Amino acid sequence: MPVNTFKDDEDLKESLNISIIKRLVVYLKPHKKAVGVTLFLMSCTILVELLNPYFLKTGIDKFIRAGDSKNLLILGGVMIIINAVSMFCSRSRIITMGKVTNKILLTIRQQLYTHIQKLSFAFFDNRPIGKILARIIGDVNSLNDLFTNGVTSLIPELAKISAVVVIMMLMNFRLALVALITVPLMIAAFFLVMSAARKRWQVFRKKTSNLNAFTHEDFSGIRVVQSFGAECNTSKTFLDLLTGQRKSFTSACRMGDMFWPIVEMSWGVGTILVFWAGSSLVSTAAITPGVLIAFTSYVSMFWQPIMNISNFYNQLVTNMSGAERIFEILDIEPDIKNRIDARPIPSIKGDVSFNAVTFSYDEKVNVLNNVSFDVKEGTTVALVGSTGAGKTTIVNLISRFYEVTKGEVLIDGYNLNDVTLESLRGQIGLMPQDTFLFSTTIRENIRYGKLDATDEEVEIAAKAVSAHDFIMKFEKGYDTEVTERGMRLSAGQRQLIAFARTMLSDPRILILDEATASIDTHTEKLVQEGIAKLLKGRTSFVIAHRLSTIRNADIIMVVEDGGILESGSHEELIQKRGQYYNLYTSQFRFLNDEEEEAV
Ligand SMILES: Nc1ncnc2c1ncn2[C@@H]1O[C@H](COP(=O)(O)OP(=O)(O)OP(=O)(O)O)[C@@H](O)[C@H]1O
Ligand SMILES: [Mg+2]
Repeated sequence: MPVNTFKDDEDLKESLNISIIKRLVVYLKPHKKAVGVTLFLMSCTILVELLNPYFLKTGIDKFIRAGDSKNLLILGGVMIIINAVSMFCSRSRIITMGKVTNKILLTIRQQLYTHIQKLSFAFFDNRPIGKILARIIGDVNSLNDLFTNGVTSLIPELAKISAVVVIMMLMNFRLALVALITVPLMIAAFFLVMSAARKRWQVFRKKTSNLNAFTHEDFSGIRVVQSFGAECNTSKTFLDLLTGQRKSFTSACRMGDMFWPIVEMSWGVGTILVFWAGSSLVSTAAITPGVLIAFTSYVSMFWQPIMNISNFYNQLVTNMSGAERIFEILDIEPDIKNRIDARPIPSIKGDVSFNAVTFSYDEKVNVLNNVSFDVKEGTTVALVGSTGAGKTTIVNLISRFYEVTKGEVLIDGYNLNDVTLESLRGQIGLMPQDTFLFSTTIRENIRYGKLDATDEEVEIAAKAVSAHDFIMKFEKGYDTEVTERGMRLSAGQRQLIAFARTMLSDPRILILDEATASIDTHTEKLVQEGIAKLLKGRTSFVIAHRLSTIRNADIIMVVEDGGILESGSHEELIQKRGQYYNLYTSQFRFLNDEEEEAV
């Protein structure tokens, strides 16, 4: 069992990125008013906190030493009131910022979702879905902390530290220097410990993302896992990933926690030094006792925010890498997009041409080499050939899911690169081999072919492909709920529903990757009828496995090694005694017997 073979698309980032902060600030712009209110409330709280030691100094120096209990009482009352107001401000600030953060997260999630939906097949070819989910859910969640802690904690704490330094300097410059003598030690420790911790937090994030991707893939492929009795192996892989993730978490926490004792020590030493130097200054009457008491309060007010910042700094930087990962995805341009001068393609008749088309998925190996053909409207083309020959690739280029490397694909004479994707794909019906149904009713699944179709139109389409009867046999008929990917239905039933969906969309060009799943004779007959009805009157490309489809096709193209080896009708190709004849005698004739038996 391969232990986590996911591609590492997630590099560890080296530094706190200013451009990321700038981009995040842009999201705050629409909420200027609320952010303004938050900053105002925050200033009120900081002001009150900074005033407290000053009040203390006044109380001691002016009222206690003079025995003025009346004014002392008034001062006490004022302190209680302004501190109560400050508490209220602090609470309102958190609520206001919480609301803003929620709105921003919603915007970012929507942006990500809309953007990812537009990305080309190549993007999805290279990424497990679990990792994409981890970004939309996990990384966006991490922004929550970034905005909330960033705006409501980091900014006020930094403001407080700066203000305290200024006040201490103004109160007594020498004593301030003594109080801050341990700061260089703390700064050095901060950079050392934090850079090590940040890397460990990033490792933790990466491991979490891999764990998500593995879990998602494992459950998506649960049928394969169970059928091979691989549960023990996958459980072991899961446990390994989980253990790795937990270890990386503990190691990051441990590293981050090393900063605490250094701050505590610096704080303690600073306070002792202030008392030592302060008391000698008091004894020489250079300062009053009130100043000394106020000073010690300010020393605490300097170190406490540093403690707080060190508490969430690690998380903040890791969350920053979450933000970076989100922007990385938002910055990926879809490979396939409308050209600036692209125009909608008018109603398609259905002529399809390949002019010397060469194509490579990875820009190294050519999968198609110089492929040319002209297909007139209304023609049914059957593509046959060995596995990996390039059949699916050819049809993917007709819908422009990938861009040709050389040559051109034309529909009704329009080069696909010059028309808008929406207008093109809206007129092409694509039925992949593995029918995909959504977790909703059969009716809604069919309606997906034409979102504004009436119930009647849905039923007409289902009747046209002989799906109506089996649907009506369900207790709830068209309102039967289909579970994810339609797993409660048989393979044949799923195909019939997909046929109805495509029938409803009524495309001018139809692409059908015929499924090979063996289905019961009755359903097989329905499927064959369905295919025949679907193909009628449109240009169709069928990657065919059924002899009936191949024989009834107007043109059969034999695809081999990324080229078209031969083409023609069934009779012509049989007479030619080439590759098709070989395929027919070795594979299709065998199918023929089965089919004839089945029908
Ligand atoms: N997304 C992809 N990225 C890179 N290479 C790919 C991709 N899809 C297919 N290929 C390669 O392109 C070649 C042609 O593949 P294609 O899917 O067109 O074959 P096919 O004729 O449809 O085969 P089959 O009958 O098995 O479906 C194969 O060698 C395959 O490995
Ligand atoms: Mg294929």
